[in-house]
Amino acid sequence: MKFLSTAISLLGLISQPILAEFTFTSSAKHNGVPVPQSEIRLEPFEPGTLGHIRSRSVDDADINIGATTLRRVKRTNPTATSNNWCGSVRTTTSTNQIKLIHGSFQHPTCTKRPGVTQYPQAAAAWIGIDGDSWTSALLQAGTVCKINNSTGIVENEVWWQWVPSGAYTVANIPVFAGDWFDITLNTTSSTTASITIANTNRGYTYTINASQGATLARVDADWVVERPYYGTSLAGFAQFTQVWFQNAYATLTSGGTSLGITGAKQYQIPGGCASSDWDNTRLYAAVAS
Ligand SMILES: *[C@@H]1O[C@H](CO)[C@@H](O)[C@H](O)[C@H]1NC(C)=O
Ligand SMILES: *[C@@H]1O[C@H](CO)[C@@H](O)[C@H](O)[C@H]1NC(C)=O
Ligand SMILES: *[C@@H]1O[C@H](CO)[C@@H](O)[C@H](O)[C@H]1NC(C)=O
Ligand SMILES: *[C@@H]1O[C@H](CO)[C@@H](O)[C@H](O)[C@H]1NC(C)=O
Repeated sequence: MKFLSTAISLLGLISQPILAEFTFTSSAKHNGVPVPQSEIRLEPFEPGTLGHIRSRSVDDADINIGATTLRRVKRTNPTATSNNWCGSVRTTTSTNQIKLIHGSFQHPTCTKRPGVTQYPQAAAAWIGIDGDSWTSALLQAGTVCKINNSTGIVENEVWWQWVPSGAYTVANIPVFAGDWFDITLNTTSSTTASITIANTNRGYTYTINASQGATLARVDADWVVERPYYGTSLAGFAQFTQVWFQNAYATLTSGGTSLGITGAKQYQIPGGCASSDWDNTRLYAAVAS
């Protein structure tokens, strides 16, 4: 599915073009004041998909992260490799599912990575539920930087996606390098959830209630920097300043317990990105060559 490049303003209740039954409502606030619906510009992400389930082609091989410029690598989590995911994935059982995931991070400064031939170059930071051990659905929200190949200009955006439906950007929430984002994905069932994305530096909060998304198993909690897809092709992986996820936790549907970063699987992208746990609520991802 490819969207036309025409910007579309979507208001109120929306029927999705890909899965006819998937619907969502959204609202936004700026400094606590509701933003009129007519000013909320939600646009299908060109060319449709952005986030992607973890790619398995180089999966689970042993990896030696090697010499990087990371600060004090702690590295107590078991590591694994991926083509596109760099970060922590904490998996739970289907009998005690993930209800909610939270994380905060600073949108990075992005620059062109020398010697990369795939265009555009991009890097996405997001939190999500599923897409690792459960591959038929993934709910995710975060930011992305994309470098225009001809002008070199870096475009920064907020986006969310209920894979396999297409991604949306929220065109009128400003995103600048260094802005802090605070994101919560709160499921009410395997097919319904509310998503809250706040740019805390600029006072914007954006909320989505989505229903009848593709069925989640709610077994993977993800805090990830991704080499994103544009449609069906992997983007070139832009260089980005270290992304630290903080206040990272997931709460479970029963028992009142929560999951943190300690004990998560720690994904690395060979030749692209190294990540490490720092403590139970923090991890980071950094460019690695
Ligand atoms: C989402 O649902 C909650 C609870 O029903 C409601 O309070 C809120 O106004 C809804 N928000 C949107 C954007 O639909
Ligand atoms: C890159 O920027 C140029 C000039 O503003 C614009 O015409 C072009 O559409 C941009 N390319 C992409 C892929 O956005
Ligand atoms: C991007 O720019 C590079 C370097 O100028 C060029 O080789 C490549 O063909 C361009 N790719 C696209 C898709 O425009
Ligand atoms: C998550 O959603 C439930 C409704 O299902 C609500 O009671 C709860 O307050 C929400 N939690 C957060 C942190 O937003």
